[in-house]
Amino acid sequence: MRIGILTSGGDCPGINATIRGVCKTAIFNYGMEVIGIHSGFKGLLELDFEELTEHSLTGLLTMGGTILGTSREKPYSKKHADPLIDKPALLKANVSKLGLDALVCIGGNGTQKTANHIAKAGIPVIGIPKTIDNDVAGTDICFGFQTAVSIATEAIDRLHSTASAHKRVMVIEVMGHKAGWIALYSGMAGGGDVILIPEMPYSMENVCEAIMARMRRGKNYAIVVVAEGLHTDCPGRAGEHIASCIERTTGIETRETVLGYTQRGGSPCPFDRILSTRMGSHAVELIATGMSGRMVSVKGDCITSVPLSEVAGVTRLVPEEHELIVQGRHMGVCFG
Ligand code: F6P
Repeated sequence: MRIGILTSGGDCPGINATIRGVCKTAIFNYGMEVIGIHSGFKGLLELDFEELTEHSLTGLLTMGGTILGTSREKPYSKKHADPLIDKPALLKANVSKLGLDALVCIGGNGTQKTANHIAKAGIPVIGIPKTIDNDVAGTDICFGFQTAVSIATEAIDRLHSTASAHKRVMVIEVMGHKAGWIALYSGMAGGGDVILIPEMPYSMENVCEAIMARMRRGKNYAIVVVAEGLHTDCPGRAGEHIASCIERTTGIETRETVLGYTQRGGSPCPFDRILSTRMGSHAVELIATGMSGRMVSVKGDCITSVPLSEVAGVTRLVPEEHELIVQGRHMGVCFG
């Protein structure tokens, strides 16, 4: 068999480890050929590719980014359609030009949606979920998330001492556009006093009262963790808005830190290396057994798969009664 592999959407730690998992299983266990397509679906439309061999894989387990490059090309999007090119038809033609028996698409929500279109067009395809936001439906976890949580937690840990030294409120804005998984997990792991996520309603009155109550209990600083996608009435960054409201209302000196792309860069943590390896390898098992139109997923400790049609276009949000939120509340954490 000859399979194609591409990476699409925002990068995250563990993509290269996944490519390695796919290639090693395909080459060593099944004698397949692997074609690496550059820059996501853009490379498939432009026939930009390379053959991946054992020699292409050196150092991939620990390497951040993606050796294949990525793009946000959405060939089936009506919004971004090019009147001069029938992208779905071109994509299908190029898959047969390359002689691909199946395509592995590594990406987040947008990529799984595209993969579902590809499956419907009759092309054998397997999706692998990746995003630091952890918001792909149909899987308990995506690789990249644990690494991002570790980076955000380390940053929060470091804010405690400087916050205490200056008797300040520290607001840290972490990634999470639609879903607040990173804010929730890093906020709890880093001992945040206030955690604000897009899924939960909040009032500035409650947030400021939680901070003042902490001060009345004799603490001289507070840590506020904000997901970047938090809804506010003001233009500009959510963290910036929250920080200025807190300072204005409480009179306590407040500073904001935006963690940004450091959460996406660099080497995956050991958990993500294992997860990426398992997911990559499982994608090839699915192809080898003739499966298609499915996304690799993790349910509990098991690696399995779900139909792409079930996950396409669905965002996995933090439920309001998530166990960590309930426990956090019992421990005095303010969620808004
Ligand atoms: O991949 C998800 C994510 O990291 C979001 O949390 C963030 O909002 C977004 O990507 C930013 O991506 P970019 O600036 O690369 O489009």
